[in-house]
Amino acid sequence: MDHKPPDSPELPELPAGIQTFEEVRDRQAVYADKTKYFPLLPKGRKVVFCARPRRFGKSLTVSAPDAFFSGRQELFQGLAAEEFMNSPKFTPKPVILWT
Ligand SMILES: Nc1ncnc2c1ncn2[C@@H]1O[C@H](COP(=O)(O)OP(=O)(O)OP(=O)(O)O)[C@@H](O)[C@H]1O
Ligand SMILES: [Mg+2]
Repeated sequence: MDHKPPDSPELPELPAGIQTFEEVRDRQAVYADKTKYFPLLPKGRKVVFCARPRRFGKSLTVSAPDAFFSGRQELFQGLAAEEFMNSPKFTPKPVILWT
């Protein structure tokens, strides 16, 4: 009997060890899309404190809004924030990223 799995399309890369949004997107690696919340960030609290255990995505979580507010539209193709970034409502902002 033949137990070989059926042919499957090539799976996308998992971003193991990748800490920047730019690299995840450039490599077309798997990205759990959280970008729909980015337009809401300036409207919320003055300060957002992000406390998570080790390897829970802190670095990538701050790298992605950096790319968003810096206006890196090319990295957001196909993601939830793409439409907002391409609308007149969006203006890039100065970003200081300190990790
Ligand atoms: N939204 C996401 N979609 C897919 N992979 C993700 C996502 N967020 C984080 N990861 C992946 O999870 C792993 C851990 O992410 P990251 O390095 O950002 O975590 P961290 O909390 O900063 O880790 P550390 O505590 O070591 O500094 C990385 O491989 C990263 O690519
Ligand atoms: Mg980190």
